[in-house]
Amino acid sequence: MQDSDLNNNEVINILTRLDKSLIEKLELNKENKKLGPLWSSLIFLSKTKKPKKFLEIGCQSGISSSMVALSSINTELFLFDFPNGGSGGFEGSQYFLEKHMESFAKNRYQITYGESQKNKDVIIENGPYDLINIDGDHSYEGAKADWEIVKKCISKNSIVLLDDITNQHHTYLLDLFNEMLNENLHSDFYINKNETGVGVLFIKE
Ligand SMILES: C[S@@+](CC[C@H](N)C(=O)[O-])C[C@H]1O[C@@H](n2cnc3c(N)ncnc32)[C@H](O)[C@@H]1O
Repeated sequence: MQDSDLNNNEVINILTRLDKSLIEKLELNKENKKLGPLWSSLIFLSKTKKPKKFLEIGCQSGISSSMVALSSINTELFLFDFPNGGSGGFEGSQYFLEKHMESFAKNRYQITYGESQKNKDVIIENGPYDLINIDGDHSYEGAKADWEIVKKCISKNSIVLLDDITNQHHTYLLDLFNEMLNENLHSDFYINKNETGVGVLFIKE
């Protein structure tokens, strides 16, 4: 599936609607390889599947969640990250996240700040989710622990994304994705290998 090619222009369109100082800070432009496959996959899946509920562990400044919010205008978003730039976030990321969600997802988003493991009851209670992006702790143990939470809030036909699986800085995430496949909960999957890579798992009916 070439969703990244199809949607690259759409990624750029949405980026132009985000806070300009964030786009400059992250140097996001057409030539930049940071325009990874995650965002184009999220646009593609949001537009085609119109998920009722989206869960994201690791929402940072709200770029990926804006991709979903703007591609599917009735989707409810449940977003989790540390407060104000903890861990892999950055100073100001909470400001941008809240600004983007107020602009693009007013009255249909919920942000919970803190470590995902500490908030697992909140994550599970709000599920099940139709579309899920695991993009928080990029260690093997952290991502696996998030997958264990996510398994408690999937339902038939949920779609689960694991980001960065072909990024050479954390090759073990591809091992984790293969372990997820071995659990045989899926009916189909694909791996978008451009740059950082994203694994997409379609849960069985
Ligand atoms: C790669 S960034 C997410 C980028 C975002 N999904 C996007 O594409 O716009 C990873 C985020 O995960 C957060 N994070 C890392 N470990 C986490 C955990 N255990 N619980 C919640 N958030 C976590 C970091 O603070 C960081 O903001």
